[in-house]
Amino acid sequence: MNILFIGDIVGSPGRDMLSSYLPRLKDKYRPIITVVNGENAAAGKGITEKIYKEFMNLGVQAITLGNHTWNKKEIIDFIDDANYLIRPANFPENNPGKGIVFVKSNQLEIAIINLQGRTFLDPHDDPFKKADELIRIAKKRTNIIFIDFHAEATSEKQAFGWYVDGRVSAVVGTHTHTQTADERILPEGTAYITDVGMTGPYDGILGVEKESVINRFLSNMPTRFEVDKKGRNQLNGCVISIDQTSGKAIDIKRILINEDHPFYG
Ligand SMILES: [Fe+2]
Ligand SMILES: [Fe+2]
Repeated sequence: MNILFIGDIVGSPGRDMLSSYLPRLKDKYRPIITVVNGENAAAGKGITEKIYKEFMNLGVQAITLGNHTWNKKEIIDFIDDANYLIRPANFPENNPGKGIVFVKSNQLEIAIINLQGRTFLDPHDDPFKKADELIRIAKKRTNIIFIDFHAEATSEKQAFGWYVDGRVSAVVGTHTHTQTADERILPEGTAYITDVGMTGPYDGILGVEKESVINRFLSNMPTRFEVDKKGRNQLNGCVISIDQTSGKAIDIKRILINEDHPFYG
């Protein structure tokens, strides 16, 4: 069985790419579930209830988040009712929302976990220890465990992948918005990629208008960052094949759609 994952959806260009390409991706890979990272879905930062519902209506089964979880304040009011919206599990215990969700599809149960790294990001609880706890909980119900590890540092992501190898089906990295070409199956059966990349503007910088980012580097002055809506768009994701009984990964493929790579995957 396949799980389709699509990396950080940035603003309206990202939402348009998701709705245009999801039917084709589903036809090609026949995933039993589709998971997307939605932390940048609303104008580049955060997610609204309207967008959460829009993604679910498109046929997405779960949405993970990251360091931009709370940027749209309305999320505080709806996250506890949004059954398939997952924020990093290692946020403080008193935060609303949840870091693990179980999705049922074709008689199978899939655990989806979101965790956030601590290197160059806020100092949340230890994601490694939190993973131990959540894997124990998930294993009581299923061997199919999917983790979106939202982190900045390549080393922390690799360390996490090796740490959980053989205990989960997949670790996909998000947050850097730039796809890495290191997808592999680790020796004990966990599919791994350091970063899946982003979905949205292709000619901006990590999804933001390039002029404002260049200006920040030139001036060292505060600059307003807007989602780039002038240029071409891209979609980045991956598809993971998993043995449904053991929960071990069999294959991981990167998906890259842009004008330079019309449909890699
Ligand atoms: Fe992001
Ligand atoms: Fe992020």
